[in-house]
Formats: sequence, structure tokens, C-alpha cells
Amino acid sequence: MSGTFTFTVFKGDKSGVPKKATTTKPEQLTGDNVLVKVTASGLCGTDLHYKTEDMVLGHEGVGVVEAAGPDCKFLKKGDRVGWGYEHDSCGHCQQCLSGNETYCPKRAMYGFADRDQGSFASHAVWREAFLFKIPDEMSDEDAAPMQCGGATVFNALHAYNAMQTETVGIMGVGGLGHLAIQFAAKMGCRVVVLSGTDSKKEEAMRLGAHEFITTKGKKELQVSQPLNRLLVCTSAQPNWEQLIPILAPGAWVHPLSVDQGNFEIPYIPLLLGAITIQGSVVAPRYIHQRMLEFAALHKIKPVVQTFPMTEAGIKDAMEKLDQGKVHFRAVLKPE
Ligand SMILES: NC(=O)c1ccc[n+]([C@@H]2O[C@H](COP(=O)([O-])OP(=O)(O)OC[C@H]3O[C@@H](n4cnc5c(N)ncnc54)[C@H](OP(=O)(O)O)[C@@H]3O)[C@@H](O)[C@H]2O)c1
Ligand SMILES: [Zn+2]
Ligand SMILES: [Zn+2]
Repeated sequence: MSGTFTFTVFKGDKSGVPKKATTTKPEQLTGDNVLVKVTASGLCGTDLHYKTEDMVLGHEGVGVVEAAGPDCKFLKKGDRVGWGYEHDSCGHCQQCLSGNETYCPKRAMYGFADRDQGSFASHAVWREAFLFKIPDEMSDEDAAPMQCGGATVFNALHAYNAMQTETVGIMGVGGLGHLAIQFAAKMGCRVVVLSGTDSKKEEAMRLGAHEFITTKGKKELQVSQPLNRLLVCTSAQPNWEQLIPILAPGAWVHPLSVDQGNFEIPYIPLLLGAITIQGSVVAPRYIHQRMLEFAALHKIKPVVQTFPMTEAGIKDAMEKLDQGKVHFRAVLKPE
């Protein structure tokens, strides 16, 4: 067909095994739309929730600008860019105007909008306003996991004013958790890692943890200092009864896990301990940009395991993530 551009995408499927497909867009870019050729994509825990949906998977994209629409202001052909969970917002509501566009009532987010595009693909077309320049010192494969995992954990620390004098607990050493350890440590915090077993201890300490405790089968947890803040980066909700006793009075809890069901927490300890529970998703753009700059300055890098961006590669990576065998973030690269 003339006047259109068709590219490869990988979509969720009823079988649970993503399938190759195509998406077609107008060849002529309008407004501030940018055509990006994908060079790397992270695989996030949230992608597992969409593996049976009829939509293109992937929301940790990195690529090179191939063409920029007539209203683009800062991107040009050849620039390296990334994108994450959010693709658009209204631009004029109070959330947008206060730098909280992640909570815009008209936000366009992964899973809900633009389901014909994602980062498991050869290309994508996104608004310039929702693309991020990748710092020169960051490789494509290191930048990919930053677009959702890195942004989410940095946001929990930055948007809610974590201070360097705090003791910060990071629960779950996976894609999000292993980045959270590095961000909190480089921010100057004392970092206590909580993990199911001790198999990840050495690596967690190398990434900047000051203390490591295991949670599986334990009735009571022992920490040398109570936690002023706790980032829950596990793929399921934790046992809150086990965690409440190790929180300092006035602690902030950031439940980041995507899970079904209700949030249930012992009620009286919440009151008596003046605990704040803070939900959040990914990061607004000004924090996402700061996250990339901070990571580049402090040499924060994900530990990645690469897979080919093919049906077989995606299947393999998703199965390994599901079984807890990814070390620590899977990154898909086009062959
Ligand atoms: N709020 C947001 O904006 C946002 C953004 C991105 C992702 N997420 C969500 O954050 C969670 C983590 O994502 P991820 O990509 O880091 O996943 P991941 O790489 O699978 O890491 C999850 C970690 O949780 C622990 N874990 C595994 N199975 C568990 C279970 N059944 N119960 C409790 N803990 C378990 C493991 O850590 P240990 O071995 O150390 O125990 C594992 O490494 C997912 O639920 C994802 O959907 C939320
Ligand atoms: Zn994600
Ligand atoms: Zn808005």
C-alpha cells in the first residue's frame, strides 16, 4: 500500500506465547510524531500480565530516530531515545501542569492505549513529548530497563523526598529491586535488602546494599536499624504483618508490585506507627529525565541478560522471568 509504513511487532496471544504480527502507520509523520527504530527493549514483570492480550508487548523501549514530524522541536534523525509506560497525556489538566502527568485522567498508558505499538517491535511511532534522549555514556541495552524499572524505583525515592540519612528497605531483587538498591545507595541512603533466600546476597552487596536479610519461612525479621522507607519490588504482595515490626515510626511504604485483590495491612500498627502508604506508577517526565542523568553520572547500570527479539527469544525470556530465572533484567535485541 502506498503512503503507509508497515513494521514488525510482537503481540500477546491467547496461548500465552507472543506472536509476530505487523502494524501499519501513515508514512507521512504529522505533528510531533517521531518514527523510532527499536534497538533494545527491556522485559518488565508487568509484561507478564499482558501476555495473553491482543496487544503489542513491551514498554521499556530504546531506539534511534529515523524521522521526526513537522512540529518536533528537539529530536532529529539519528538521536538515541527511550520511552516507557506513558505515551501521551492531555497537557492542560492540573496533573499535567504540576508535573504529575502520570495521573492525568486522559493519560495514554501501556495496556490501555496505543495497543498496536510497543517495544517488542522493529519500529514505533510516538510523540516527541514522551520520548527521552539517552545519555551518551549509556548503552542501548543498559538504557532499556531504565525506561520502566529504573523510572519506577527512582520515582518512589525522588518524588517522595527520600533523604540520604534514611534507612531504605528494598524488598525483592529482580528487575526493579536491583536498580532500586543502586539508586538508594548512590543517593546516600543506608540500604537494607529483603529477599526470599540468601542466593542473591553477594550480588546485592556488590550493587550497594549495606545489609541483607532473608524473609522466607521467617516469623520475625531482624534489622540493625528500623526502615524509614520501604520499596516493595516483589512480583506479588508481601506479608505486611512480617514487615510492620521493622518499620520506623513515620515510615513510608511504597507498594510497587502489580497484583490483584485488596491491600490488607494490620490497622492499629499503621495508626500507632504513623505509617504512610504511597501508591505510585512509573515516573513523570521531569523525574524520568533526572533518573537518566543521575544513572549516567553515578554509573548505575542494570545487570542484563540479552535475548533475541524473535518469537523464540521472547518466549524464552518470558518463561525465565515467570520462573524467577532472569538475572536481573531481560533485554531483547533485534537480530
Ligand atoms: N508500580 C509501577 O509503576 C510498576 C512498574 C514496573 C513494574 N511494576 C511491578 O513491580 C513488580 C516487580 O517487577 P520486576 O520487573 O522487577 O519483576 P521481577 O524481575 O520478576 O522481580 C520480582 C522479584 O520479586 C521476588 N518474587 C518472585 N516471585 C515472588 C512471589 N511469588 N512472591 C513474592 N516475591 C516474589 C523475587 O525477588 P527475591 O528473589 O529477591 O525475593 C523477584 O526477583 C511486578 O509486580 C511488576 O508488575 C510496577
Ligand atoms: Zn514495567
Ligand atoms: Zn492531563
